[in-house]
Amino acid sequence: MTDSSEQARSAVPRHVAIIMDGNGRWAQARGRPRALGHRLGVQAARRVVQAASDRGIPYITLFAFSQENWYRPEREVSVLMRLFARSMRRERADLQRNGVRMRFIGDTSAFAESLRAEMRAVEAVDVPEPRIQVRVALGYGGKWDICQAAERARQEGVAIDEESLAARLSMSDVPDPDLLIRTGGEQRISNFMLWQLAYAELCFVDTLWPDFEASDLDAALGWFARRQRRFGRVAESR
Ligand code: FPP
Repeated sequence: MTDSSEQARSAVPRHVAIIMDGNGRWAQARGRPRALGHRLGVQAARRVVQAASDRGIPYITLFAFSQENWYRPEREVSVLMRLFARSMRRERADLQRNGVRMRFIGDTSAFAESLRAEMRAVEAVDVPEPRIQVRVALGYGGKWDICQAAERARQEGVAIDEESLAARLSMSDVPDPDLLIRTGGEQRISNFMLWQLAYAELCFVDTLWPDFEASDLDAALGWFARRQRRFGRVAESR
């Protein structure tokens, strides 16, 4: 049994990954611009990181912009890029005080240099003993991640196997997620961490992301804990 599957049996997940879906529908249902949904989506992300930290979850990964999201209307993409840059500028000041170490994963080569500079500045904030480590996936795709790991192994002349690829994935320094939460009612992985989610518990909820509260996180954590306990009983009765 791997280290991560042993950990997955404990009540509090070590790593929670979230597909934050439903910003657009939240706004459209109210006759408001999708941009408002995204702005409130950032507030929801802040709330959930705080709640996760308070509950002792050491790692959280948020899917903020997929490679496929580049195909959204140009106007929406530029709204999102401006929102990301603004949020990073704002958050940067509070990272140390809140004990949050933030890192980005994904292919950022197509992002504006100004946004990449904000990302570097956020990553440069020194949080030596973080209460929570936040990964924000931007320009990320699970297939891209596996391909870039294979390409690195090839360039280094290393044989491609499970160990060599796992060591070169974007999140090789972080335990695999124990729990994936997707809001917004869809039941898909949508090219998120295809490799790293291999053993994760998948929790799909109808709540739209801007409505997601600490209580919704608690409900997902409760569901996770019950699932683990059920598996324990089956294992014990054998
Ligand atoms: C999902 O809703 C939202 C996105 C893909 C956009 C980015 C996410 C945020 C702004 C929230 C948090 C951001 C950070 C930086 C942590 P959707 O537009 O796919 O909604 P829909 O399915 O209702 O259209």
